[in-house]
Amino acid sequence: MEIEASNQSKPFVESIKFILDFYFGTIEYTTISTFADQSTQKFDLKNAVEILKSFHLTTLQRTMNPNDIPEHFYPSIIINTENDILVCCKKSNNVMTVFNPLTLKLEALDVTLLSHYKSVLLIVKDSESNSSITSKYTKPWFFEPLKSHWRSYVEIGILTLFINIFALAIPLFTMSTYDRVVPNKAYETLFVLASGTLLILIFDIILKHSRNHILENVSRKLGSLWEEELMRKIILTDTHYDHLTTGSKANLFKELQHVRDFFTIRSLMQIIDLPFFFIALSVIYIISPTMAIIPLLISIGIIAFNLLMQIPIARLNKNQSHTLQTKNSFIFESIQGTESIKVHNALPHKLFSWRNIVALSDGIATKIQSLHVFSMNVSQFLVQVVVISVLVVGVFEISKQHLSVGGLIAITILASRAIVPIVNLSGILIRLKDVGESIERINHFFALPSENTHKIEAGLGKLEGKIELKNVSYSFHKSKYPSLENISFNIYAGERVGIIGQTGSGKSTLVKLLLKLIQPSQGSIYIDNHDLSTLHPVEIRQNIGYMPQDPFLFNGSIKDNIDLSKPINKTKMMEILKLTGLEDLIKKSGQGDGLNVGERGANLSVGQKHLVALARSLVNQAPIIILDEPTTGLDVGLEKKLILNLKNNLSTEQTLLVITHRFAALDLVDRVIVMNEGKIVADGPKEKILQALQNSTQKGSV
Ligand SMILES: Nc1ncnc2c1ncn2[C@@H]1O[C@H](COP(=O)(O)OP(=O)(O)O)[C@@H](O)[C@H]1O
Ligand SMILES: [Mg+2]
Repeated sequence: MEIEASNQSKPFVESIKFILDFYFGTIEYTTISTFADQSTQKFDLKNAVEILKSFHLTTLQRTMNPNDIPEHFYPSIIINTENDILVCCKKSNNVMTVFNPLTLKLEALDVTLLSHYKSVLLIVKDSESNSSITSKYTKPWFFEPLKSHWRSYVEIGILTLFINIFALAIPLFTMSTYDRVVPNKAYETLFVLASGTLLILIFDIILKHSRNHILENVSRKLGSLWEEELMRKIILTDTHYDHLTTGSKANLFKELQHVRDFFTIRSLMQIIDLPFFFIALSVIYIISPTMAIIPLLISIGIIAFNLLMQIPIARLNKNQSHTLQTKNSFIFESIQGTESIKVHNALPHKLFSWRNIVALSDGIATKIQSLHVFSMNVSQFLVQVVVISVLVVGVFEISKQHLSVGGLIAITILASRAIVPIVNLSGILIRLKDVGESIERINHFFALPSENTHKIEAGLGKLEGKIELKNVSYSFHKSKYPSLENISFNIYAGERVGIIGQTGSGKSTLVKLLLKLIQPSQGSIYIDNHDLSTLHPVEIRQNIGYMPQDPFLFNGSIKDNIDLSKPINKTKMMEILKLTGLEDLIKKSGQGDGLNVGERGANLSVGQKHLVALARSLVNQAPIIILDEPTTGLDVGLEKKLILNLKNNLSTEQTLLVITHRFAALDLVDRVIVMNEGKIVADGPKEKILQALQNSTQKGSV
């Protein structure tokens, strides 16, 4: 095991194993290693938290003395500044029993010795009430990352307060100059005031820079946390409920970008100075209470106007989001289906649809744009109205000797500046509803059940490979007829079974059930007598080598495509390549196993793609091997060679399930199950079944 070898990772791996073993029995190292950072084979605290989360253990990171860990949080991980790790298991009097991941032993230590372990990872097992239903309302994917940065918000708040106070410097300096310096020719005061103001401005620029830096950091981190959560969710959504098109899913990232943009510096900068409005208003009030009414009234006017504008804009945005989803799906499909569009001369027809979609989305976008511009123009007009009104009212106030000339100038500057955050705020208000809806749409997706939200057991270990189905039925979402109906069979460990049947008879659906990609609508599946519904998907898939009927290859080398879950060494890779017959391709390429397969494996032939997928399924030597149409796209010679290779190389302990249309592939198996319209119509020794099939064909009944 590669990650065991690495010194840095070992304490984390062992500690996590200790904790998972505590909750679930024995957990394999391979299960843990699937969560390691595959590029470096490193396993750190982040990976540890991830794996605990995936096993439904909630983690809380705290800075505290290990002595203060409440009892119900044992076992907990503690870490000191040198990154040494211990697992606290028990405390009696002043003695803490800890598991040391370096020695793999339990040690009894005096709690005072542990005081430099300041960082604590508390672990609790989720209660069942913690279901996806509550998450629909609480939006943990959105708020958790936000909450985790509260310290930065406090810092930003303090900096902002100072920046806003500093903004008073220029208007107050101006007022003093007009009212004190000019009449008294107090040049000394002027220089003192000027240098003081300059100093404040220098502080101002430093504070603004720091604030910007913190904001940038927070928004970048927030964004990447949200994006990671979304990516994880997209992959882990339960297949049964997963009906969004590729385009719509990609659109979720666009929506998230929208949300990210909202929380970035530019827009936050606009509202962050809102306190200045109140500070400036108070100062104006102090100079002249009457004058303060003007900016106050006009700001209320600006906000009310923009809130009204929000209504039509939000409605348009909703339509636009729908149109953009359609557009995105269309783009994805057209790019993927370029060749089909060409060869079937479908271009004019496709372009016609495209033109409609583009026209619709452009129409909406123009309307939204013009409403935005209109609201901006009106807001700007109102800002100028503030200046005019201040001057007009100010003149009368001066004549009544309620105000000095310097005071009027200061108020003019203050009022026109105070109104700026209000105008900005109204721009934000218009977007707020829109962003809120983006968050709702993403949240809608997050509310779909994930693969492992059900109550699970873990600690499966390596299976023997016995499979049992009891009255299993399955209907796809919204489909009228069951794709599988009342399927029951027993497959013993090491048995080799062929599944044959007409197209659409439910063979591939059966395999998806075994992989827990979908779950039976009725009945139960057992692997080694464990009910599949109680097992962790990661542990099941570790025990199954699966080759799908339409393999998906990732852009990259053949090697990267074969050892997807964890790297394997050169010798093993060569063995696999030889076994699958990919060796010839590699030799001819001159690039070894670094040969690039292209996007979706476009540089390979259909048969070669299948061979890569076959290699993937064999690479981990799983106890159960499932091959769905393994010889698709192979010529007769290659097919024969491959089957012979497989026959000789699969161990007798490995359970083999082969779904096939080809008689040649049945050479691999001893038993055949025949399916028709979602039911099993025959099951027995190969010779007997084939004989029976032949007879019935002769009779013309099939
Ligand atoms: N994602 C899906 N949504 C709805 N129906 C599906 C889906 N996948 C397969 N089906 C239907 O289930 C039936 C069985 O499909 P499948 O198991 O793929 O057949 P095969 O025996 O050829 O592998 C078919 O009638 C098919 O139309
Ligand atoms: Mg199929």
